[in-house]
Amino acid sequence: MFMERTFVMLKPGVLQRRIVGEVLSRFERKGLKILALKLVRMDQSMVEAHYAEHKGKDFYDKLVSYTLSGPVAAMILEGEEAIAAVRRLVGPTDIHNSQPGTIRGDFAYRTRLNIVHASDSTASAEREIALFFKPQEVIEWEDGNAQWY
Ligand code: CMP
Repeated sequence: MFMERTFVMLKPGVLQRRIVGEVLSRFERKGLKILALKLVRMDQSMVEAHYAEHKGKDFYDKLVSYTLSGPVAAMILEGEEAIAAVRRLVGPTDIHNSQPGTIRGDFAYRTRLNIVHASDSTASAEREIALFFKPQEVIEWEDGNAQWY
């Protein structure tokens, strides 16, 4: 087991639906540590950079316009094997495979509006963290509760 950082973005619908706290609490209750957290109004070039791997796919234009439709809540979470742990909490991208108990399974009906983005690899986590956060926005803090998780 090794400590890892991952990037999570709560999409605009989460703010519209006033469920930021509910979704965030899933990560906190699991024991993930928040190192950075902020609201971001992404612009076109930032969305295109974030979703570059999906350019040209049939859902791309709608994905871009949805992501631009309002602010997102961006965060860096840390924990042992955090990338996989967060992806398990979030559930699969295809909403039809997202089981109840996962964030997507509990809060989303459509794959396009799947409410949360989470890094899928170390390389994407590093790239996404660098896209959203300056190094000084990442807060290292002493974890007095580490033994409980
Ligand atoms: P996310 O984890 O943010 O990464 C890419 C996003 O594209 C994904 O969540 C969905 O919002 C969207 N997406 C991926 N596959 C599809 C699809 N088949 N149909 C519609 N949207 C999709």
